[in-house]
Amino acid sequence: MNLKKLMITLGCSVIAWYSYGQSKITVNTDKPIAEIQPTMWGIFFEDINLGADGGLYAELIKNRSFEFYSPMMGWKEIKKDGATGSVLIENRTTTNKNNPRYARFTFDASKGSYGISNEGFRGMGIKKDLQYHFSLWARAVEGNGKMRVELVNSEDESIGSATLTVGKDWTKQKVSFTATSTDLKASFKIWFEGKGIVEADMISLFPNDTWKGRPEGLRQDLVQLLADMKPGFLRFPGGCIVEGRELVTRYQWKKTVGKIEDRELIVNRWNSEFKHRSTPDYYQTFGLGFFEYFQLSEDIGASPLPILNCGMACQFNTGEVVPLEELDPYLQDALDLIEFANGDVNTTWGKLRSDLGHPAPFNLKFLGIGNEQWGPQYIERYKVFAKAIKAKYPEIKLVTSVGPSPDGELFDYLNPTLRELKADILDEHYYKNPEWFQQNASRYDNYDRKGPKIFAGEYAAQSAGIASPENKNSWKCALSEAAFMTGLERNADVVYMASYAPLFAHAEGWQWTPDLIWFNNLEAYGTANYYVQKLFASNKGTNVLSILEDKEKLTGQKGIYATAAWDNATKEIIVKLVNVTDKEARHNVELAGGKKINSTGTLTILKSQDLDAVNSFGSLNIKPTEEKVSVKGKTVAIALAPYSMTVLKVKTK
Ligand code: AHR
Repeated sequence: MNLKKLMITLGCSVIAWYSYGQSKITVNTDKPIAEIQPTMWGIFFEDINLGADGGLYAELIKNRSFEFYSPMMGWKEIKKDGATGSVLIENRTTTNKNNPRYARFTFDASKGSYGISNEGFRGMGIKKDLQYHFSLWARAVEGNGKMRVELVNSEDESIGSATLTVGKDWTKQKVSFTATSTDLKASFKIWFEGKGIVEADMISLFPNDTWKGRPEGLRQDLVQLLADMKPGFLRFPGGCIVEGRELVTRYQWKKTVGKIEDRELIVNRWNSEFKHRSTPDYYQTFGLGFFEYFQLSEDIGASPLPILNCGMACQFNTGEVVPLEELDPYLQDALDLIEFANGDVNTTWGKLRSDLGHPAPFNLKFLGIGNEQWGPQYIERYKVFAKAIKAKYPEIKLVTSVGPSPDGELFDYLNPTLRELKADILDEHYYKNPEWFQQNASRYDNYDRKGPKIFAGEYAAQSAGIASPENKNSWKCALSEAAFMTGLERNADVVYMASYAPLFAHAEGWQWTPDLIWFNNLEAYGTANYYVQKLFASNKGTNVLSILEDKEKLTGQKGIYATAAWDNATKEIIVKLVNVTDKEARHNVELAGGKKINSTGTLTILKSQDLDAVNSFGSLNIKPTEEKVSVKGKTVAIALAPYSMTVLKVKTK
């Protein structure tokens, strides 16, 4: 009787053992083949889908300074029981260019009540027993200057209020109060008392539970989701938002630092981008500005990666460019930003950083020149930036665009041209279907090892079509991204950074789908794609190890993808395996080499039998589970579930 027959006669468990033995995957634990950069897996942040205003930035009042195109957008006058009143928008452009408008209320509420209400960003998420901080700039031109501020729930019942009095001169007034119940769609009211005239601006309401308790800060639950990813870098502020639809609405970092009331608001370019998801009330107040982005990067242990406008507006829109001879201010912004981030406190911009509360440098190492630019006009402008920045700051690595797609005419021009120019890091973007991600796990296997490094700067599998409103954060998409990401990690000597995009989406205020994290005004959840990102980033390792089956890399030949790493800090071997087939796949994973291996390890598994499955509020269908696995000698027998991603971790002694 041959061995196979003998085992079959011995019963099922032995058959299972036998079939494990059929497919051996070997990890060479002795010879690291490449370093994995600390920046390998990061975050792409853009103020799209109400990502900043209405999202991460915890301000609850929409249009707080009456600067939206329609000054009363988000506001409504309210009159009850015979009170009268009116609102006039006044504009003081000559004395306050950045924040010219304010509201002048003339009222007689000696009987009844007169005031205004604000609807928030698709309502306001209010939590029972939480304190709220109200502030405004105001003066009482006539009357007693008394007002009552009030939160009301979706039934128009009062759920918290306070009173305050404003004086005769413009000052900032504050009052805090506690909410008595929770509501997803609350709104806010200000009631004026007696008869009089009050002028008001910068009307603001923040919850107390901001990230790190910072006043007027960021939404704690959303930042926590980011911190949990253990990101290597934070790219900000986008995206197309860097470019603007036209140059005048480009992102200008200097206008986003300093006093909140001096930060000039502009329209958000996603306001009108998609007719099918028109968002006329989408503006950028820059309450989340460049100082806050740097601070956030530091908080979550991510290297800051700002992207700056290079004198080009979005080429999908106006495509305006600044004439080369007028590029200086754009270049100066870049040089000054480096000084702002890293400069000594005695320099102009280093001093500003210090004055804002951060004397220590932010340790900026990377800077993006333009977002998704293309054509010879990009190269002309990039050259100007590269020459000047490298002359003054040779240590800063520049991130350059290779266009909106990882192939095609635009890519085929930029890719060789930038390589010729010895660019540092090329930013490739992939918004492709799930099959593309599965088919491209070996994309970087043959990239030039000595050329520029790769930043997979924006990617997401699109289930229906690029930016189609029908796209879903399905398990199929997430699993395909996982397959592709094994190829990024295997090629960590070339791929230095990668980030999914976009990051955030408000369930009622989005323009673009799919997105990594969805939220409403009270809650947030990570998609299946989020958990894929999180598993890669939090099980990164420090060095790539060779992982082969029959001397071949696992790049999807039998629907299996794999990458392996060594973690020098924890002395662990980390193997990531992705099975995109509908069958269980049994493997013996041999951890070959001289290392002493623990007799148990852990398996962290992300799986679903349903490729269309998605996560949603209160229902995380796809989230990691953990189990123990035994190691026999140096071998781990693993049954990869159908449609699954598995992370095997084994400690060495
Ligand atoms: O992630 C959404 C958009 O996609 C980004 O703003 C842009 O860079 C890309 O086209």
